[in-house]
Amino acid sequence: MDRLKGKIALITGGGSGIGRATCLLFAGEGATVVVADYVAEGGHETVQQIKANGGKATFVQADVSKSADVQNMIATTVQTCGRVDVLFNNAGIEGPSAKIANYKEDDWDRVIAIDLTSVYLGMKYVIPEMLKQGGGSIISTASVAGLVGFPGSGAYAAAKAGVINMTRMVALEYADKNIRVNCICPGIIDTPMVDRVVGGRLRERVVKAEPVGRLGRPEDIANAALFLASDDSSFATGAPFVIDGGYVAR
Ligand SMILES: NC(=O)c1ccc[n+]([C@@H]2O[C@H](COP(=O)([O-])OP(=O)(O)OC[C@H]3O[C@@H](n4cnc5c(N)ncnc54)[C@H](O)[C@@H]3O)[C@@H](O)[C@H]2O)c1
Repeated sequence: MDRLKGKIALITGGGSGIGRATCLLFAGEGATVVVADYVAEGGHETVQQIKANGGKATFVQADVSKSADVQNMIATTVQTCGRVDVLFNNAGIEGPSAKIANYKEDDWDRVIAIDLTSVYLGMKYVIPEMLKQGGGSIISTASVAGLVGFPGSGAYAAAKAGVINMTRMVALEYADKNIRVNCICPGIIDTPMVDRVVGGRLRERVVKAEPVGRLGRPEDIANAALFLASDDSSFATGAPFVIDGGYVAR
């Protein structure tokens, strides 16, 4: 119940899917949650759900690909809550599916900005705060698409592989400052994003191909994020945590 008692957690993409499940779990574990999203409706709905359960949360609107928004989201968290113990860089988009020769340059730039540059911006602007307060935990959502080949995923796979190696690099840069940096590599998780990519009849085929016979649930990833946000993971840094129902083990 109280694994995050007294902690302040800023979670991007908190208005849907994995982000919302994590916001709800963290608040239930005693954290004050700052829900960030560029879609205000989803973000406010998450805050309402947390409050209805007796938790503490506020919403801040931010496009995580924009430096000014990221700076504002972190400054607002520190102003309203006094500190930021956990940053979960989770917001992301899937982008189009196309072989690389057909992958449009505009799409490449947009997906890299939202899925990779956002993680750089989040780390760049939260680390000075974490240094001031004596530590913190940074978690990012990468993907199994950053570990194995996913034909047609274009900039998405490149961005997620970038997140994984940036996690290792930044973890080593700040390991002696009590700032832990980890990422999660989800397999296929049943969220609105996956509905868009493998909805309809394709979904049945995808479920059949899963080693554990089901898609992941947003809560499966939220539980991993809880471990990484809490002091239970005090010896974990620089690592990609694969939570995929055996997907990459095949
Ligand atoms: N669902 C999966 O199978 C899966 C697998 C691996 C990794 N992931 C990653 O998990 C993360 C969450 O995905 P999800 O499945 O919950 O998707 P989702 O579409 O349900 O939620 C994504 C959220 O991010 C927000 N968002 C998107 N772009 C944003 C931006 N520029 N600024 C602020 N917010 C923005 C959206 O508004 C939405 O609320 C993403 O990084 C995704 O790449 C998902």
